[in-house]
Amino acid sequence: MEKAIEVKNLTKIYKGGIVAVNNISFYVNKGEIFGFLGPNGAGKSTTIKVLIGLLRPTRGELFLNGVDIVKHPEQIKRDTGYAAQETAIDDRLTCLENIYLQGRFYHLSREEIEKRSEEVLKMFDLFDRKNNLALTFSGGMLKRLDIAEALIHRPKVLFLDEPTLGLDVQTRQTIWEYIRNLRRRNQMTIFLTTHYMEEADALCDRVAVIDEGKIKAIDSPENLKQQIGGDIITVNFSEVSNGKIQKVLGEVRQIPQVKKVNLGRDKIYQIVVSQRGDKIIPEIFSISQRNGININSIRLKRPSLEDVYLHFTGRTIQEKEESRESLIKTRIMKRKLRR
Ligand SMILES: Nc1ncnc2c1ncn2[C@@H]1O[C@H](COP(=O)(O)OP(=O)(O)OP(=O)(O)O)[C@@H](O)[C@H]1O
Ligand SMILES: [Mg+2]
Repeated sequence: MEKAIEVKNLTKIYKGGIVAVNNISFYVNKGEIFGFLGPNGAGKSTTIKVLIGLLRPTRGELFLNGVDIVKHPEQIKRDTGYAAQETAIDDRLTCLENIYLQGRFYHLSREEIEKRSEEVLKMFDLFDRKNNLALTFSGGMLKRLDIAEALIHRPKVLFLDEPTLGLDVQTRQTIWEYIRNLRRRNQMTIFLTTHYMEEADALCDRVAVIDEGKIKAIDSPENLKQQIGGDIITVNFSEVSNGKIQKVLGEVRQIPQVKKVNLGRDKIYQIVVSQRGDKIIPEIFSISQRNGININSIRLKRPSLEDVYLHFTGRTIQEKEESRESLIKTRIMKRKLRR
């Protein structure tokens, strides 16, 4: 697999000594949707800013499609698109005027900007609103416009810093769909940051769990859930003698992947397995059959990404996020006050 991004031992220490990113290494494959999942102050935005050449790393080696990011800032600017955590839309301008400004930033000609803005605005269903002031746009539309802008120069790799921050659940799901389309239709590589578990789970091929400047785990959401183990199979046997059930459970305990069998309420048994439970279910069925016991129902619960986060960082993401809502509010305030 070809790599779009390669990071080796990246450290970023801000003036004043704050270690925002602490010796991290990872790669992103071409065409991948890759996510940084972490709470406030984990170092997500800092990593993006270093990768697009906006900040200089303190230490480490960084490559984008094999090109040294520190040594070739101009090429990195051409090859990357970036939608910042705080949208960079001027709401006194129209949708098209905003796009035009962005195009000029990349030294595109007027004709080029016209052609490409039609393309990206249609992609994000904003073409009909192109002459409206951004002031009249909803939060979701502003985010879409912001991402559309980041695509005006047809970058190879797109960086989205919290693409759905502060949006409601439905609007977030719409944005996920736009992001998936970008990858499907344009074979784009997408690096995004999020503190939403469901977002990382639904959207990302691979996820890095980042906390206090360090990568705690990195893999596909599915594998991360498997790594912590603990799929839970809940079985409800049909009414039979306890002796028979004990014999079945004895045999179930012999399956190497079975870690524990618990008695739940009302003679319902919980079987905790170390690997994917769906591979164990057929075995449970055949053991029951062999012993002449029917199964009324069987359910499988996968650990969620929430469980993964807890496992690798020792706390839930909310515990670090308490001040987040108020933080977002201050940011919105700041934006308004600037005008
Ligand atoms: N310009 C700066 N100067 C000094 N310290 C900074 C600067 N920018 C960020 N930091 C610090 O670096 C750390 C990482 O910040 P960063 O913005 O990368 O986190 P983040 O994961 O994006 O958080 P959030 O979820 O709040 O966006 C924090 O402790 C932050 O206070
Ligand atoms: Mg951030």
